[in-house]
Order: sequence, then C-alpha cells, then structure tokens
Amino acid sequence: MKIGLFYGSSTGNTEMDGKIIKDKFDEYTPGLVEMFDIAKVEVEAMLPYDHLIIGCPTWNIGQIQDDWDAKFEQLDRLDLTGKRVGIYAPGDPVGYPDNYCDAMGLVGHKLEERGAELVGFTDASDYQFDHSLAVEDGVFLGLPLDDDNEPGMTDERIADWVAQLIVDFGIDELVAA
Ligand SMILES: Cc1cc2nc3c(=O)[nH]c(=O)nc-3n(C[C@H](O)[C@H](O)[C@H](O)COP(=O)(O)O)c2cc1C
Repeated sequence: MKIGLFYGSSTGNTEMDGKIIKDKFDEYTPGLVEMFDIAKVEVEAMLPYDHLIIGCPTWNIGQIQDDWDAKFEQLDRLDLTGKRVGIYAPGDPVGYPDNYCDAMGLVGHKLEERGAELVGFTDASDYQFDHSLAVEDGVFLGLPLDDDNEPGMTDERIADWVAQLIVDFGIDELVAA
C-alpha cells in the first residue's frame, strides 16, 4: 500500500500543508505517503500509487494554480480507475468569497472523469464564504484550508482529515496494525 501526494504551490502554503499531512500519516505508518511537486514530475508518476492525495490552491480568481494548470490537459492521459483521491486546497474565503477553493472542484471533476473516486469530503457549514465550485450538496469535495486568515486552524483540520482519509481509503486496519 502506497499513497502518493502531489501538490502545486506558488507561495509555499500548499507545500507546507502537504508536509503536515505526510507527517500525520507518518505518525500512523512511517513512509506510507510519498510527496511530489507536480511541477517536477510527469503526471504518470501518479500511476504506481494505490491512492492519491492532491494539493491544489486557487489562484487568479477561480483558477487552478499554475503548475497544475500547465499539466491539466495531460491528466487526460491517465486511467485512475480504482484509485481513491483526497484533495486538499488552501484558499482565501475573505479575499475571494465568491471563488473559495474553486480549484478543488475543477481538479476534482477532472480526476473523476479519469476514473478516480473522490473521498475526504468536508461539511461546508464550518466555513464562511459565498460560493465555491468545490461544494456539492453542502459538502466540499475535499479539505478546504485557509492559511491566509485562519492559519491556527490548519493543524487541527489536517489531523481530522487524515483520520477521515484513513477510513475513506480503507486502510484503518493497516495503520492500526
Ligand atoms: C492574486 C491572488 C488570487 C487568488 N485567488 C483566489 C481565489 O480565487 N480563491 C481562493 O480561494 N483563494 C485565492 N487566493 C488565495 C490563495 O489560494 C492562497 O493564498 C493559498 O494559500 C496559496 O497557496 P500556495 O502558497 O500554495 O500557492 C488568491 C491569492 C492571490 C494572491
């Protein structure tokens, strides 16, 4: 069982959050998660992993972060059938309340098109924002973070999400062993 974490990060928040996620998994099972900057690898690097964690912030008012944007069409080369994918997404609901974490929705739907099953949903009522492409039926399709306005919440949100992912990935028996 291996989990690949692929992130894109323009100013470092998504990279930092990815390290917190990896460290959390390491507390359960050291080495379970391997982490990559999507700017430095081919999209095919995702294929050997059983399940994936994707980190993608929103930039430029509702747009996917640049490194993901550059690889977005290449995702069409992948067959992700059978893989479960948790998406985490730093954003800014104060500065961009009408586009909070839109990239989570854009990337998430693309990965679903490629056969992946999204997991790790989060209740949207815990967040203050007006609109997001990442919300369906009152839940975010992954984990929204806000390192700009609520950095003190990030550790706890990630700890809760990792515990949820362990169940959603179906590896709770593995990490308990
Ligand atoms: C010019 C600019 C545009 C942004 N647009 C959005 C946006 O539309 N929606 C959102 O949720 N966050 C938006 N953000 C906030 C970033 O997503 C947030 O700062 C994130 O933590 C950046 O992650 P990174 O450091 O990994 O690149 C924007 C930030 C800047 C500076």
